[in-house]
Amino acid sequence: MQDKINKILEYIENFTPKTFEDLESFRISLVGKKGELTKLFEDFRNLNSEEKKYYGKLLNNLKNRVNEKIDNLTTAYKPKIKEDHRIDLALQEPNLTYGSLHPITIVKNEIFSIFKKLGFSIYEGQEIEDDWHVFSALNFPPEHPARDMQDTFFIQKNPDVLLRTHTSSVQVRSMENEDLPIRVICPGRVFRNESISSRAHCIFHQVEGLYIDKTVSFSDLKQTLAFFVKEMFGSKTKIRLRPSYFPFTEPSAELDISCNLCGGKGCSVCKHTGWLEILGCGMVDPNVLELNKIDSKKYSGFAFGMGIERIAMLKFSVNDLRNYFENDIRFLNQFTNFY
Ligand code: DAH
Repeated sequence: MQDKINKILEYIENFTPKTFEDLESFRISLVGKKGELTKLFEDFRNLNSEEKKYYGKLLNNLKNRVNEKIDNLTTAYKPKIKEDHRIDLALQEPNLTYGSLHPITIVKNEIFSIFKKLGFSIYEGQEIEDDWHVFSALNFPPEHPARDMQDTFFIQKNPDVLLRTHTSSVQVRSMENEDLPIRVICPGRVFRNESISSRAHCIFHQVEGLYIDKTVSFSDLKQTLAFFVKEMFGSKTKIRLRPSYFPFTEPSAELDISCNLCGGKGCSVCKHTGWLEILGCGMVDPNVLELNKIDSKKYSGFAFGMGIERIAMLKFSVNDLRNYFENDIRFLNQFTNFY
């Protein structure tokens, strides 16, 4: 018994753990169920009363020494491991700055959610396009002056590689790839060779809409746009359609909304007309359907296209288009409450 006590004493005096796990094995090797010290106490039960008197004291001292060693080492090793995982509920939050969505993203998301309610799905195309998808398949004949309506960026010296000037090209892609009926909205960036000012930019965003089915009519177009306008600008907003011209729609129209700043009375934003133009639209020209291998005797469709910057300007009263592209934090911070 004396030998064993001495051995344990020597063992604990020389022990230094490297990790908390070492310390745990050390503890178990001594005071665990099958630990050395536990075993000694079991042996103790078989001693006679004389021996018990003698070893009882020694064993108790040993037990105290073991516990003391374990306690000391636990305080030295355990906190490092445990405290890292502890949550300090009184801790002051660091000075977090929250980001916000860009106003163009906010408006784009809102457009998506409005048209989703009407059963439209999102369809995306490509920014680098060819003449067919941007012009020819949309009924712009070669050399037609309507091509000059949009100043195009051509890539290299090949006139058949160009940056799309409108998302109407995605109409063509959807007619090429999708089964009928088609009911899509097509968001994306478009590019025009224009000088940058408060009202124009060479890069901006559009959302195109296209619905082709067997009995699509102009009144479907009007109701769809009326629903969109009331959801986007409020239920009191009025709409009006003005005849217009686009090569890919016949008849074509432009949609105006009553000025949401002056309520239609006339102000500098609506140039004292009470109306603001927001998009172009019309019935898909039967030529376009045929060019895209859709039987125009069986099918009809409507289309519309709007600039997201324009909608966002009217919604948030932004008066300079360049704000959207300059990443000025003072501008962007104003949109932290929108999701
Ligand atoms: N693509 C036209 C533009 O960029 C907008 C547009 C007008 C799209 C009429 C349409 C439409 O789908 O029917 O100016």
